[in-house]
Amino acid sequence: MKELAGKNILLGITGGVAAYKSAVLCRDLMRRGAEVRVVMTEAATHFITPLTLQALSGHPVHSELFAAEAGHGMDHIELARWADRLLIAPASAQTIAKLAHGEADNLLTTIVLASDAPLLIAPAMNNVMWEDAAMQGNVDLLLARGVTMLGPASGDQACGEDGLGRMLEPLEIIEHLQLQLQPGLLAGKNILITAGPTWEAIDPVRGLSNRSSGKMGYALAGAIYDAGASVRLISGPVHLRSPHGVDCINITSAQEMADTVMANVSICDIFVAVAAVADYRPANCVKQKIKKNAETLSLELVRNPDILAMVAALENAPFTVGFAVETENIIEYATQKLTTKRIDLIAANPVSGDNSAFDSESNELTLIDRNGISHLSRCSKTLLAQKLTKEIAHRYHETHPAKDS
Ligand code: C5P
Repeated sequence: MKELAGKNILLGITGGVAAYKSAVLCRDLMRRGAEVRVVMTEAATHFITPLTLQALSGHPVHSELFAAEAGHGMDHIELARWADRLLIAPASAQTIAKLAHGEADNLLTTIVLASDAPLLIAPAMNNVMWEDAAMQGNVDLLLARGVTMLGPASGDQACGEDGLGRMLEPLEIIEHLQLQLQPGLLAGKNILITAGPTWEAIDPVRGLSNRSSGKMGYALAGAIYDAGASVRLISGPVHLRSPHGVDCINITSAQEMADTVMANVSICDIFVAVAAVADYRPANCVKQKIKKNAETLSLELVRNPDILAMVAALENAPFTVGFAVETENIIEYATQKLTTKRIDLIAANPVSGDNSAFDSESNELTLIDRNGISHLSRCSKTLLAQKLTKEIAHRYHETHPAKDS
């Protein structure tokens, strides 16, 4: 199937070892029907030859801003107008910095400024460079402008280190692109989503919480927004920035999350509960720090409200999606949750050994609804979020055909 037929993709390649993967990326984009034009920075030509990309794309590779032959081919303005999407893979630290600050000192960065096509960037660099504060500041600037960051992934690096900074694999990049090019799956819909852990105070400095990083919920909020929906995210305490376009309300405890959800639920079409809500809270939060005078200390805990079950039990309940994190018997427990909480779809993920979903960049999900079981295999949480969005949208539209007319 030619999923990208009729789409014009401008593939920007910058200087980095991962540039060798751009040849495969170019070929796979074309296999899916995309028209590809390649723009390389001068540094990129040290890693892979323009001739390779010319042979694969079937068109001359562009790399000079002031090329004498530009008038006979496409100049930067024409290329900028031609593109449906600008995809830079790999994107070096240097190019990311230039893009963040609007510099236009080579053909690629000039095209980006001259184009209003959405920009997708697949960074590739050493993990320490990626985590540098200046680099992250540049990434923040780009994200705030709505640029899509694809990865980077974590793993072995060409420099011999292991960490965050690998370019995503070509197929993952293409999946992102495909999912982005079929927007409108949830156009006009209101989605309420919970994410992150909750914090249940014991005293002013201590509390009960759990290991949720919020990454899956935040990625899902971003993907649902990209699918055309209005998204309100009710988030527990996390170290993540709110996804572009998403309206984020920060709360701390399960009770606050429950109150905020109930105050917002009436306008939503779909409710997605990704938050790892604490099941219990201390019966009393003492006002002063508890001193360690006694040898033992007992805490009395009381049940927190089950937000998802409360929403699903509403008279005009929205389409409800829950998550189930289990260490064993995943399918059995998740299926039980589907029926006891009376929800429409449950996404189950394993937490055991190396495959733990907690604080990880990747995850896998087993989807269970009343029609059966399907599986979304392990990939980055961003990509998984896009796949899950598609699944949610299809099920929502199946069960709400009348409302869409
Ligand atoms: O029952 P369990 O906590 O395993 O169910 C998990 C699902 O229920 C998740 O979707 C979670 O966000 C939601 N949940 C909730 N409120 C609670 C506990 C769980 O919304 N108090």
